[in-house]
Amino acid sequence: MSHKLGSQKAHESHSKDENSCTNQTPDRVLADREDSLRRLESDLNQREVSLIEREIKTIRMQEELDRLRPLSGLYRVVKAMATERKLDSLLTVITRETQQMLQCDRCSVFVLEASTGELWTQVAQGLVGQRVIRIPVNGTSIVSECARTAKFINIPDAYADPRFDKQVDKNTGYHTKSVLCVPMLNRSGEVIGVFQALNKKGNPFTNEDEDWLEGLTAVAAGLIEQAQAYSEIERFVDKTLETLAQTIDRRDPLTAGHSMRVTKYSLLMGETLVRAEEQIDVLRYSAMMHDYGKIGVPEAILWKNGRLTPDEYACVQKHASITFDLLSNLPFTRRLADVPFVASCHHEKLDGSGYYRGLKGNDIPYLARIIAVADVFDALTSVRHYRNRMPIEKVTEIMHAGRDNHFEPECVDAFYKLPSNRVLAVMESERGQAIPAEVDAFRNVSWQRLVELMCGARPKYEEEGLKETFERIYNAGLPADYQPLD
Ligand SMILES: [Fe+2]
Repeated sequence: MSHKLGSQKAHESHSKDENSCTNQTPDRVLADREDSLRRLESDLNQREVSLIEREIKTIRMQEELDRLRPLSGLYRVVKAMATERKLDSLLTVITRETQQMLQCDRCSVFVLEASTGELWTQVAQGLVGQRVIRIPVNGTSIVSECARTAKFINIPDAYADPRFDKQVDKNTGYHTKSVLCVPMLNRSGEVIGVFQALNKKGNPFTNEDEDWLEGLTAVAAGLIEQAQAYSEIERFVDKTLETLAQTIDRRDPLTAGHSMRVTKYSLLMGETLVRAEEQIDVLRYSAMMHDYGKIGVPEAILWKNGRLTPDEYACVQKHASITFDLLSNLPFTRRLADVPFVASCHHEKLDGSGYYRGLKGNDIPYLARIIAVADVFDALTSVRHYRNRMPIEKVTEIMHAGRDNHFEPECVDAFYKLPSNRVLAVMESERGQAIPAEVDAFRNVSWQRLVELMCGARPKYEEEGLKETFERIYNAGLPADYQPLD
């Protein structure tokens, strides 16, 4: 703009000169023209300076952005602490953010497992088919060395460095160029893992990258330790509740495994019916503990070989309220606070004729409606004191008769859509025998379709023989002397 104005002024000045040239000497005309040229040159210089200044500003802004990128990475990781308590998810977030922060091709967080002396990492990004990689801490890899020495390792050219094992690339099909490994230390200064970044875009990793990664590992170490502690507590709770549930099941060899099978069937249905992960945990623990109240029912009644009297039946029914009372004493976390209520509702029926509260329809927790389907299905397909496993056609008759009045129809439908191999795997999982390999042959047949085949439907080519195989699996090892009372 200044150049344009300058040119205009020069032009005006030149016109004036021409108009009055007859009154001026040649020297004066020359001096004026030189003056115009100087002004023009000055304008051009000014414009060039502005352009350079703008260029410098852009470069500085880019430098500022580059400087802040690691900071925003750190911020995102710290923010993840609030949302990601599970170790797996946390490691995924940390890995992703580090990769972005350092502008590298791949990043892995290796966690040291003290009990095995191994460093493990989740899926190395981009490697298909590998979910967990384990390497010995006393091995020869760069990561192992970093863990042992607790020192940074920055290798600008992997293939020129004797510490790099080219075989790793041969096995994975990846081409490693630059490597940066930073040890992850806990508050006591002990190594708890290693951050590994590979192939920095453009250049090798810099000292600044080392500094940023050191900062990140300091934050991540605390988070990872916290997540590990959380996982340990979760595992302890999980195993404690499972053991409690089994103490009830194991009072009677015939009901052994009932709680775990009901849990597995419920979770299979939950895969399609329940979205929130927290709800899945409530479903798992409620299903596991649903019959815990049976601890308050005399064995003579539970083990009775024949039909129960009305009084005995009333006594058995009490187990649902005992389940609620006992579980309410446990300090479940807020996330699992619904477990006692859900578990105690597994005998409620949609039409309100169930026990022990006589709840109706939507007043029954949805998760309890899932457990109800799993519970009845398992009871019918298991050996009881008074009968053998019920023929599968009869089981289906009962399950379908219960749609709308006993069971949530959506839950029954979800169950019958399950692949038969998964249902069979659960059914056979607690019978003290290995799951037969034949179960795999049912993977493309839904439970509904299998029942149709059992009821006489004409098998398609790939379904031939399934009916006979199922009968053999279902009836294997059944006591012959049981009276089918139902
Ligand atoms: Fe029950």
